[in-house]
Amino acid sequence: MFYKTSEPHGLPHNPFKSCVAPRPIAWVSSIDPDGVVNLAPYSFFNAVASDPPMVMISFNGYHEHGGEKDTLANIKSSGEFVANMVPRALKDVMNVTTAPVAHEVDELELAGLTTEDSALVKPPRVREAPIHLECSLHQEIKLPCTLEDSINTMIIGHVLGVHIRDEVLTDGMVDLSKIEPLARLGYMQYSAVENPFVMNRPRD
Ligand SMILES: Cc1cc2nc3c(=O)[nH]c(=O)nc-3n(C[C@H](O)[C@H](O)[C@H](O)COP(=O)(O)O)c2cc1C
Repeated sequence: MFYKTSEPHGLPHNPFKSCVAPRPIAWVSSIDPDGVVNLAPYSFFNAVASDPPMVMISFNGYHEHGGEKDTLANIKSSGEFVANMVPRALKDVMNVTTAPVAHEVDELELAGLTTEDSALVKPPRVREAPIHLECSLHQEIKLPCTLEDSINTMIIGHVLGVHIRDEVLTDGMVDLSKIEPLARLGYMQYSAVENPFVMNRPRD
């Protein structure tokens, strides 16, 4: 089949997200001007450069209680955030933190998670996550939006510091089989990295 994205696709559900899958999930911790910590998952997330390391996150729509999603508002006001990696073991805990709770509700407490201080940025890290990227806001980019009364905003973050829990290193390399990072597919589907394999490029 083929469909033009400007026209109906004719399928029971929008297939687009399954056509760009799997997508890593950033479990983003951020902080508001009063010091209230926020945590939420975002899968329009990826690394976009490595020297220096940069990541992107895209925010779709408003917060159910009005205004921008808390994570976006916090990143814009503080200029900082932490992208925590979600291991498969924490999939259900991650799901709790996506609830559109009121701004002042602490999703970490709700999910039974704990934090530890970051080294370079104000938002704390999720202690239970195996990898943390401490980031500063590099750029905000407004994206087009075809839905009425909605917004799409992308931010690019500069990764200033990376924490890797020692137990997930094997011979000095990040051992993703020990983490099984959770990934988002289309619809309500998820996957986890279970079987990393090595394939060298021809010139190697
Ligand atoms: C796995 C997962 C991935 C998500 N990815 C995104 C995303 O990329 N962009 C987005 O706007 N919302 C995404 N959401 C929805 C947000 O997590 C949700 O709107 C949340 O309530 C936002 O919280 P906040 O206002 O505390 O930032 C995702 C939800 C889940 C469960």
